[in-house]
Amino acid sequence: MNGTSRIVVLPGDGIGPEIVAAARDLLDALGQFSYDERLMGGCSIDEHGTALTDEVLDACRNADAVLLGAVGGPKWDTTDPGAPRPEQGLLGLRKGMGLYANLRPVRPSPALVGASPLREERIAGTDLLVVRELTGGIYFGDSGREGDVAHDVCEYSVEEVDRIARTAFDAARRRAEGSGRKPKVTSVDKANVLETSRLWREVVGRVAAEYGDVELEHLLVDNAAMQLVSRPADFDVVLAENLFGDILSDEAAMLTGSLGMLPSASLGAAGAPGLFEPVHGSAPDIAGKGLANPLATFLSAAMMLRHGLGRGGDADRVEAAVDAVLERGLRTADLASEGGDQVGTAEMTAAVLEELDG
Ligand code: IPM
Ligand code: MG
Repeated sequence: MNGTSRIVVLPGDGIGPEIVAAARDLLDALGQFSYDERLMGGCSIDEHGTALTDEVLDACRNADAVLLGAVGGPKWDTTDPGAPRPEQGLLGLRKGMGLYANLRPVRPSPALVGASPLREERIAGTDLLVVRELTGGIYFGDSGREGDVAHDVCEYSVEEVDRIARTAFDAARRRAEGSGRKPKVTSVDKANVLETSRLWREVVGRVAAEYGDVELEHLLVDNAAMQLVSRPADFDVVLAENLFGDILSDEAAMLTGSLGMLPSASLGAAGAPGLFEPVHGSAPDIAGKGLANPLATFLSAAMMLRHGLGRGGDADRVEAAVDAVLERGLRTADLASEGGDQVGTAEMTAAVLEELDG
């Protein structure tokens, strides 16, 4: 990539501004970036009456990458179908930027295995990646209400399934490189009931035939939800449509016991800018108190460096620095553990920066 990378920064709501500011400090320690900070989410509703303006969407489309904090909060909670909601900004960005592939890696940090609600021996060796389809399915189908009846249509095309399946198989290959193990994709559907799932299974099977070196397993979504907690270490890449992927990625995230640790990347066509954000929400209860855990945002920035800006070496450095501070025992309140030092956002950030220098 030539010149200074242009990053559109969307701090959003709640703890968003704090963790994104910390991520900017981290990025500044790694190189030179130009930032274009914009409103998206509840803050944009307050200012413009809509969660995402055309101007901000345009800026995102023209950036090298987009870094997002978190959106939403009780202030904007509503069941009025006509009222603007912060989440619409996120969905508008996904659709408007063509971000059809959502990658959510789940790898419990060795120092945090004790934080998992599952027994240590059960999660030992867990290292999986959820690949979630992000711009199709029931999230984007026709929806409406007629009197006492409401509907949300789930639709998938061959093309939509084909491209996300390729993302999953490619990711499985990349993850296994040099490890000597056979990569595996677990495709999740509800093919015993849903027609979209039967199409899904058919297309995934066809794509799999082109990846003879990758093992393919099909699981029904209810079974997948159960297997994820009973044998998490057996999963490699989990491929799911939009709604199933939303649900299973939260479940998988909890395997680590620390939702506050997980990053995500939303990617579109090759060369188009991606969107990088922590999986956790805007935590309005602790907003503005300097308590927020910035690590998921740091790890999201690492995904941005690797997948969005071609700086894999810097991404490795950030991930190693995060592991190192956890190893040293530093914990924000959400990771509360016995014996560790409890620190706030600023101290955690300073410690990670120190590790980067060291
Ligand atoms: C996520 C979130 C969003 C989703 C919400 C906020 C619309 O849960 O990114 O997983 O359902 O996709
Ligand atoms: Mg979700």
